[in-house]
Amino acid sequence: MPTSATRPPSVPWNDLEEGHFIDLDQVRQGLGSVAPRVDVLPLIQVDSTNQRLLEWDTVPSGFCLVAQSQTAGRGRQGRSWHSDALGSLTFSLKWAISRPPSQWSGLALAVSLAVIRAFTLRGMAQGIGVKWPNDILRHGKKLGGVLVETAHSPLRDDLAVIGIGLNLQPSLPTASNISQPISTLSDQGISLPERSLLLGTLLHELVRMLDEFSRDGFAPLITEWHEHCVHLHHPIELHFPAQPTIQGICAGLTPQGALIVKTSAGEQVFHGGEISLRMESV
Ligand code: BTN
Repeated sequence: MPTSATRPPSVPWNDLEEGHFIDLDQVRQGLGSVAPRVDVLPLIQVDSTNQRLLEWDTVPSGFCLVAQSQTAGRGRQGRSWHSDALGSLTFSLKWAISRPPSQWSGLALAVSLAVIRAFTLRGMAQGIGVKWPNDILRHGKKLGGVLVETAHSPLRDDLAVIGIGLNLQPSLPTASNISQPISTLSDQGISLPERSLLLGTLLHELVRMLDEFSRDGFAPLITEWHEHCVHLHHPIELHFPAQPTIQGICAGLTPQGALIVKTSAGEQVFHGGEISLRMESV
């Protein structure tokens, strides 16, 4: 990774101000051995880091955009995602996945695990867990989320845009966009390593995870995901926009990352939906 941020060609940079809220030397320290494979550009404000990487089709695999703030941050299922200038870590990575998009169903789950691995490396994993499909929780409250999108290009179909949003400090999101209690790292007494070092560590674990996923898919990661899953073997409700809510016991994930629920009608497999859980049970 070069010392100064690289601006890829053919991108309208005029309205974009480079930010100094990220120390690229510290990012490189966190990136370690994968530093030559990643290029990080910090910007003061964008609409959405995911949207920029989707639209900037000249930006290569390995390019990471980190924004101090987003004006139109996106969450799953069409929700918006609020990130605060000081309180959040908000970034997206473009990455070539060596398997067709039809086999990406477990990719967002693998990315959540990479976040858990990074927190573990930095000694920040106490009370942390994952909620299907791609929420990061701490003590049952949402700490962050993952949004994976496909970068459609006439030339190739293997580029994913992987967005991660984390609430680091208690200048809280306004919660209007988030349908569950929010946690931050520092309001739970977690000492934060330097934000840039954390970003580098997250990217290091993400790149290693993307290599694993490209090679083997999600199936070998099931056991690790189950270890961190906050609702495995617990009662859950699964909500859908236009279907009745499903109630049952979470029985784990399939090798493709779908959710298995034991219901009164037997075991059923779900590829979408929004879980709510009874917090006293996790
Ligand atoms: C969710 O939990 O709904 C997923 C939230 C993902 C938010 C991140 S922040 C960086 C990237 N840019 C976006 O617009 N969204 C993702």
